Amino acid sequence: MALYAIGDLHLSHQVELKNEAQLTGKIWKDHEKYFEQNCQKLLTPEDTLVLVGDHSWGRNLDECREDLEYIMALPGRKILIRGNHDMFWEAKKTNKLNALFAGKLFFLQNNYATYGDVAIVGTKGYCFEGLDSWEHAQMLVEREAKRLEESFEAARADGYSRFLMFLHYPPTNIFEKSSVFTKMAEHYHAEQVIYAHCHGEARFHDSIRGRKHGIEYSLVSGDFLRWHPKKIMD
Ligand SMILES: [Fe+2]
Ligand SMILES: [Fe+2]
Repeated sequence: MALYAIGDLHLSHQVELKNEAQLTGKIWKDHEKYFEQNCQKLLTPEDTLVLVGDHSWGRNLDECREDLEYIMALPGRKILIRGNHDMFWEAKKTNKLNALFAGKLFFLQNNYATYGDVAIVGTKGYCFEGLDSWEHAQMLVEREAKRLEESFEAARADGYSRFLMFLHYPPTNIFEKSSVFTKMAEHYHAEQVIYAHCHGEARFHDSIRGRKHGIEYSLVSGDFLRWHPKKIMD
């Protein structure tokens, strides 16, 4: 039994893959085929796979149907984090999604999942990338930090003291050494922080990777992992 993670599948069974500069190149050719093969080789039905956001290009649930079916057919239990491209997942409708996909997919936001005695907490996160104003970015960071805190507190209230923390966005932007997210990871003694979102060689070093203040930070975007889920915990 093991827990794996990977992000940014950017599936496009119904809606065409957007021709964004960071999502082109050999690594994206038939990537869903290679990813599925890797999962079939690596994962067993007893394993857990955390998908760290940017699942589908579909703009609503109807347009994501085949992408979500593809995810459901992968081996093991699947836990999903919300990415910036996941238009089908309205923030306030997480409970509805969990009811709709009960026993098939778990949508993680303002709640938590468990893996043995470890709580899996997380949220989309946010960091300033120069695409909006600094003030707007700060507002989104604060909102996401609140959601993350809610996730930690829900797990803590149920007696959990071991945490794995997931974010779609990197925990810090390229200018930061720490952030509200790294501080929260330290405050709750998260064992690991796992994030995705960074595509292409040039962005793989945007944030913290490796050990810092006793916490292991991992980037798990699909192209970085070459579509092999990363083992996070046995
Ligand atoms: Fe992405
Ligand atoms: Fe993203």
